[in-house]
Amino acid sequence: MDLQGKKIVLGLSGGVACYKAAELCRALIKQGASVQVVMTDAATHFIGPVTLQALSGNTVWLDQWDPRMPNNMAHIDLTRGADAVLVAPCSADFIRKLAHGVCDDLLSTLCLARPAGVPLLVAPAMNVEMWQNPATQRNVATLREDGIRIFGPAAGEQACGETGLGRMLEPEQLLEELIASFQHKILAGKRVLITAGPTFEAIDPVRGITNLSSGKMGYAIARAAREAGAEVTLVSGPTALSTPHGVRRIDVLSAQQMHDAVMAGVEGQHVFIAVAAVADWRVANASDQKLKKQEGGAAPQLEFVQNADILASVAATTSLSGWPYCVGFAAESENLVEYGAAKRERKGIPLLVGNIGHHTFGQDENSIVLFDEHGHTVLPRADKLTLARQLVSEIGKRLEQRSLLT
Ligand code: CTP
Repeated sequence: MDLQGKKIVLGLSGGVACYKAAELCRALIKQGASVQVVMTDAATHFIGPVTLQALSGNTVWLDQWDPRMPNNMAHIDLTRGADAVLVAPCSADFIRKLAHGVCDDLLSTLCLARPAGVPLLVAPAMNVEMWQNPATQRNVATLREDGIRIFGPAAGEQACGETGLGRMLEPEQLLEELIASFQHKILAGKRVLITAGPTFEAIDPVRGITNLSSGKMGYAIARAAREAGAEVTLVSGPTALSTPHGVRRIDVLSAQQMHDAVMAGVEGQHVFIAVAAVADWRVANASDQKLKKQEGGAAPQLEFVQNADILASVAATTSLSGWPYCVGFAAESENLVEYGAAKRERKGIPLLVGNIGHHTFGQDENSIVLFDEHGHTVLPRADKLTLARQLVSEIGKRLEQRSLLT
């Protein structure tokens, strides 16, 4: 649970997106947070406080004159000890209030009265014209200058029937943003390119050869790198996973397409992490038409040709600039420590992550071994996101050491 022990003040201002705030509240609780909901009068026109009270398990605060707080100072007490204040949805009017320090209801007063160390995070939600209006954009710029984090908004269909920027991010995306806000930004300003998932090598237009990689580890690393402040590009083979929020994803099928996408995007990258289970061979005599079986006929004879090694191709480019810092994966079936160390040397890369292939493919948990020039370190069994965060932190430390040396 990524928010275990965290105290979150969830503020709702007026907007149709209030219905998504109910789901968000539930998601925060599921991740272990305790949630204190504060609603503006406008928000209560869109969703009833009873719903938020039931979901958060706490009194919902609406009124700055509410006498239930023993000292009658809800605007002070609610943020003392809080880890973050998240306003979702944040209307155009509430953005205006935050930009100008207006205190005319409990939520706006509470935001102004929060201790300097309590982050204020806002998720705008409004009509596209309201969002694009220069007045709103001026206010948003002021919020950014004041260190207030803005999550979204997204583009798409709006409740009013118009289309464009202004939709509030989905609850799941806001949850990812909030969790990310608590992570150490060890890769701030860095660009990270990652391959993930299996590849698919065509036999004919409807058949092909693939493997059991689910992409879970590569996607978890993409998410962890983004949480750590990096700009992340994910080149992905076919998977059933949704793209981590804020990550740019390029979909490919074959090893050749993956190779081409990586080589086209590798320039300017600080880190390359090859997590994909890339097919070593492709079918040399793949058919343009579906192969037909003949009654009593012979089975098709497939011929194979070796695919380019993407990691080796990228590692070869680093000799010129020293970038990107290359991280490989090794899926072995036995002798992991011996084979992993040898594979790191053979691939000519500074860091290799070893795991037992059939223990990890498709699983939610894994244990990994890191190999570098000093030897190997075991990261014990954990869920893949936890391991991904540990790996990202290890990569960050090594980048820091490199910059100290150069
Ligand atoms: N890799 C790659 N391109 C390939 C094959 C592998 O980028 N065509 C990358 C994988 O993403 C992984 C690493 O190379 O990071 C190791 O892949 P692996 O298949 O374990 O190693 P091989 O070198 O293929 O050795 P072997 O199959 O003999 O174990």
